[in-house]
Amino acid sequence: MRIFLDSANVDEIREINQLGFLAGVTTNPTLVAREGRDFKTVVHEICELVDGPISAEVISLETEGMVSEARELADIHSNVVIKIPLSENGLRAISILAAEDIKTNATLVFSAAQALLAARSGAAFVSPFIGRVDDTGNDGLQVLEDIVIIFDQYLLDTEIIAASIRHPMHVVEAARMGCHIATVPYKVVKQMIRHPLTDAGITRFLEDWRKAGK
Ligand code: G3P
Repeated sequence: MRIFLDSANVDEIREINQLGFLAGVTTNPTLVAREGRDFKTVVHEICELVDGPISAEVISLETEGMVSEARELADIHSNVVIKIPLSENGLRAISILAAEDIKTNATLVFSAAQALLAARSGAAFVSPFIGRVDDTGNDGLQVLEDIVIIFDQYLLDTEIIAASIRHPMHVVEAARMGCHIATVPYKVVKQMIRHPLTDAGITRFLEDWRKAGK
């Protein structure tokens, strides 16, 4: 399973990219707004940093607006993927953009039914929001597993991005079930790296080394 960073913060992206495992980045309007910077400049900077799919989301609600925003964003860099919210207008936009070879990432996906339609409309990626499904008292990982099984069953090319990740076990479970990608917030990447036994082990090794007069 590939690891993307779910962030619009260029400093975070630069730092995590140096660790060597980063395969792409996803942003959303909330993350971009938090930065208080020009959207296209941020997307361009991320594309310069990370060699992989970089998702940038449209904010129009009508198909025409989505398509025209998508064309402008796709012009920024060949790695830009257009995030389109799952709706009738969104599916129409995904289909139009697929015919133009502009890659899309169907976002705000909360069910396997939505994911199947997005894939059949031509989305390159679908993003089930597993944490937000959990927040409603339902099982986000179950939704994700249904999507993995259905896409495998029909050999669909659309890649599944586990999104709205809240903790490292979301990532582990997504990988266990064969999800293609997890887009992980900065804080959760840090939680994935650290383990108290690793820290304790390093301290003990150093103490033993010093005690032996090394
Ligand atoms: O970028 C989409 C998704 O990962 C948002 O996550 O934590 O706002 O539900 P969250």
